[in-house]
Amino acid sequence: MSASAPVQPGNLLLAVAGGIAAYKIPELVRQLRRAGHAVRCVLTEAGGEFVSPLVLQTLSGAPVRSSLFDSGEEGEISHIELADWADLVVVAPATANRIAKLAQGLADDLVGTLLLATRAPVLLVPAMNVNMWSHPATRANAGLLRERGVHFEGPESGELACGWEGEGRMAEPGTIAGRVAILLGGETWKGVRVLVSAGGTREPIDAVRSIANRSSGKMGFAVAEEAARRGAEVVLVAGPCALPTPPGVRRLDVETALEMAAAVEHEFETCQVAVMAAAVADFRPANASLAKIKKEDLAPGAAPRIDLVQNPDILAGISATRGERVVVGFAAESHDLVEAARRKLARKGCDLLVANDISRVDAGFDTDSNAVTFVSPGGEVDELPLLPKVEVAARILDRVEKLREGPR
Ligand code: C5P
Repeated sequence: MSASAPVQPGNLLLAVAGGIAAYKIPELVRQLRRAGHAVRCVLTEAGGEFVSPLVLQTLSGAPVRSSLFDSGEEGEISHIELADWADLVVVAPATANRIAKLAQGLADDLVGTLLLATRAPVLLVPAMNVNMWSHPATRANAGLLRERGVHFEGPESGELACGWEGEGRMAEPGTIAGRVAILLGGETWKGVRVLVSAGGTREPIDAVRSIANRSSGKMGFAVAEEAARRGAEVVLVAGPCALPTPPGVRRLDVETALEMAAAVEHEFETCQVAVMAAAVADFRPANASLAKIKKEDLAPGAAPRIDLVQNPDILAGISATRGERVVVGFAAESHDLVEAARRKLARKGCDLLVANDISRVDAGFDTDSNAVTFVSPGGEVDELPLLPKVEVAARILDRVEKLREGPR
């Protein structure tokens, strides 16, 4: 949960589907209630095999529904009233079957009907066997739902209840509760234009080869998604990466640092906030060959010489002309994190530097979590614990909010 953003209590409809991870749901209900939310649970038929309605009813303090056609349950609160009541619908665990049903729009039971009837945002928390999660059908269904604006938390990697190892573990209750707080936060950034850069750049050597880096783009995409969820108008300048465009975000795909610089400089003119999470190549080959460099054209055993030239520093460039605009930079460091970040902040001249320790295996490149330290121009250092990238994104935007309100 975001420490700086107060939790906005809301009405949560929690749909529990039939997976072994349902054993964590009573704890989730407790945490959500403790955070001040009103919680109503609904069970799929299979969900009822894994967790007892009585436990959920006792912990949530509200009757639990499981059938669409039970006249007693429907008399208490109709399924449409329930769908309208919710500020957020959470499906946890979200099984492969549930994800498929929602992707196809099937309303053949209570949970399916509620998910189609509600106007509230939907958060799916998948949990399943690693092979089921990586099955092309599940990937396609999850991709379709993401495009429609459905939110996902996890799944995480690790030991699975089925005995396999891999991606498929349901997110922990604390992580889910944190995401709920973010999703209920409200559209407080309406009218704000936000520019985000993400991913690495690709600098061509010849027609087929290039210099690239390990950036996955996940951190920048999470910032773009969170800014859009807060109601901002978001433009995302993305280096080559396979991530889906977050809902409501305008995406500009670029390849090289020079292309990224041109797009960022153009968009920066009309925005109020810029978060530069891209891993921009510092150097590019001076004379990229338009044709493929062939081994046969060189002397036996010889290698081509590649001269490099420096790329422009995009962050330093926009920071120098920012005026009232807030600019956030990133730093990936492998040692002396804070000292290196302080020096970088001074060099770049931005308002906040988000420093990652890339020597950690559970944070940084291509992971879903990140452990970052905020470094401010005044010398203030704020070390955050290991958090999902969506939550790191929320913390960054909370900081930006403060910077926009207060003196700098
Ligand atoms: O200098 P370094 O690459 O470590 O700095 C990282 C920060 O600077 C990131 O915010 C990155 O987006 C930005 N950067 C940039 N232009 C460059 C290199 C990095 O904007 N040429």
